[in-house]
Amino acid sequence: RRFLKVATALVAGVVLAACGKQEPAPSAASAAASAPPAPVVKTYTVGTDAAYAPFEFQNEKGEIVGFSMELLTAVAKKAGFEVKFVNTPWEGIFNSLAQGDRDLLISSITITDERKQTMDFSDPYFDAVQLIAIKDGAKITKFDDLKKLKVGVQTGTTGDEVVSKLQGKTATTIKRFESTPLALKELEAGGVDAVVADNGVVIHYVANNPSAQFKTVADASFTPEQYGIAVKKGNAELLALINKGLAEIKADGSYAALYKKTFGTEPAAAAAPA
Ligand code: ARG
Repeated sequence: RRFLKVATALVAGVVLAACGKQEPAPSAASAAASAPPAPVVKTYTVGTDAAYAPFEFQNEKGEIVGFSMELLTAVAKKAGFEVKFVNTPWEGIFNSLAQGDRDLLISSITITDERKQTMDFSDPYFDAVQLIAIKDGAKITKFDDLKKLKVGVQTGTTGDEVVSKLQGKTATTIKRFESTPLALKELEAGGVDAVVADNGVVIHYVANNPSAQFKTVADASFTPEQYGIAVKKGNAELLALINKGLAEIKADGSYAALYKKTFGTEPAAAAAPA
């Protein structure tokens, strides 16, 4: 009997000691004082082809700036993550996402059914359409006039797609460039008769390069496009964060303010609160 009592006490003592070691019961005061552990803020690597003013470009200091950078930075702040922009050539940009070298892409990427097969897109954040740039004196009034002419495009863009459809993918009159500014420079030099590219970039270039003496031609046959932020196929967690941030900046007016600051007009449909 006596032995049992001692043994029980011993066991109880050991158990208590063990408990005490692992987790001292906090006093009410210390429990109230200790803050919850600080959440780990993730930094995501963002790929962008920074030769696309005013959306994504490099300033004099070589920093990647533009509408897209301000937009994504605001989105990230709302959603609680951080971003690091990495200049990534357009031609390898989708691959960099698939390979995991980039966590997301913001690069004025048009959401297309074909691209949706290999990546996931956020809700749209910008409405765009193709626009034709020509020399001031050129007698081109519609897209169909480009059928037999030399046309410059950025390789693998939606501009490339529409011109490929008009002329045939293998037409030698399609001149493909690694960036849109290079295609526009070629128009200036007289190497091509027209350039077909996203309206925002063409308008910006024409306005900022008056010596190039370009004019633009719109055509109703171009289908409306919308830009989305791309994540690796299946990355639902990051996509949800991005969409949450996007919805918040659309709802609180900061998207509209950024849009107006950049383009001087009120945002169109894609900016409407989701
Ligand atoms: N919106 C067009 C597309 O998705 C062109 C985008 C090009 N973007 C860039 N940063 N170069 O094909």
